Parts: sequence; structure tokens; C-alpha cells
Amino acid sequence: MVYTFENAREEHLNDIVRIWHEGWTDAHAAIAPAELTKMRTIESLETRANDRLNLIRVMMVDGQVAAFHMIKDDELDQFFVDRAYRGKGAAKALMADAEAIFSGNNIKTAWLACAIGNERAAAFYRKAGWHFVRVMPLSAHVESGSFILDIWRFEKQIA
Ligand SMILES: CC(C)(COP(=O)(O)OP(=O)(O)OC[C@H]1O[C@@H](n2cnc3c(N)ncnc32)[C@H](O)[C@@H]1OP(=O)(O)O)[C@@H](O)C(=O)NCCC(=O)NCCS
Repeated sequence: MVYTFENAREEHLNDIVRIWHEGWTDAHAAIAPAELTKMRTIESLETRANDRLNLIRVMMVDGQVAAFHMIKDDELDQFFVDRAYRGKGAAKALMADAEAIFSGNNIKTAWLACAIGNERAAAFYRKAGWHFVRVMPLSAHVESGSFILDIWRFEKQIA
């Protein structure tokens, strides 16, 4: 499969939001606090994706968005692969792009928050060379402000 990467543009927004919402639901609906799940609506993700479009990179396959990541300083803030491309190596390619961005920004140690119990993502991150550091409280962005919850913090030294 040929994966190409580009900075996200407005025309990618619908696909980003669909992949984000489906992925969030698949990975978190069963493990996240019900109150947070209620706030993760398509509309709320649309607003966030739109506001942070400049932080998003999309992975394209055959002219379609297949995955995206969002990087905020030294944090891999969002990392989502379309259902159709999971388990096929796309996540590895997406991670290589994210790490290249960190490297280009001279970030030595990158970190990410993984929901406690998101075992598939944790397995992938370990496979990609990230290591679990500790459980820590995270102030998750929600429309009304923030929602504090414990997460698994992973880090990786960037070459
Ligand atoms: C997390 C994500 C990016 C990983 O990409 P992926 O293509 O699924 O990753 P891979 O298949 O390469 O690796 C996942 C590993 O977890 C394993 N796995 C699958 N389901 C699992 C489960 N329920 N529990 C534990 N491990 C699981 C897979 O077997 C695989 O390991 P293997 O290669 O040794 O067999 C992708 O699944 C995704 O987008 N999920 C929804 C959104 C999400 O959770 N994003 C991360 C937010 S922190």
C-alpha cells in the first residue's frame, strides 16, 4: 500500500472528523467515564479539528484520508487510523511521520496520553518503541472547559 502524508486542509475535515469519532467510539466508549463519552459528539470534534487544523497531518491512500495525527509541541495529541486500515501497517507509517515531525522540531522526548484500558493502542505504542511511564491525571479538552481523568503516559526518545 502506498501511504503519503500532507498537512491537513479544509477539504480533509469531514474525513478527519469521521475517523476521529469512529475511532474514539471504538476505543473509548466502553472504558471512558459516561460523562466524557456524552461530550465527545461529532460537533465537538468538528470544532476541535477545525480550530487545530494546522496541527494535523493526514495520511492519504488512493486520494482518501486513511489516518491522521495531531501534534501539540512535544505531545502526540491525537492518533487515529480509519477502521479499514487498522492491523495493516498503516499505524506504523503514521507513527513514522509523527516522529519525523518531532525530530524536525528538535523534540528529544515525546509523550502521549493513552486511555487506561485502551489495550490495542497500548500494544501498538509498545511495538512502536514507546514505553509506559506512569498513570497521571490529564485535563482533557471538552467544550465546557476541561475534564480531569487518569491516563497512561507513554514516552519515546526521538532519534
Ligand atoms: C490505536 C491504533 C492507531 C493502532 O493501529 P493498528 O493498526 O490497530 O495497530 P496494529 O494492528 O499494528 O497493532 C495493534 C496491536 O494490538 C493488538 N491488539 C488488537 N486488539 C487488542 C486488544 N483488544 N488488546 C490487546 N492487544 C490488541 C494487535 O494484535 C496488534 O499487535 P500485534 O501486531 O503484535 O498482533 C488503531 O487501532 C486505532 O486507530 N484505534 C482507534 C483509535 C485509538 O485508539 N487511537 C489511539 C488513541 S490513544
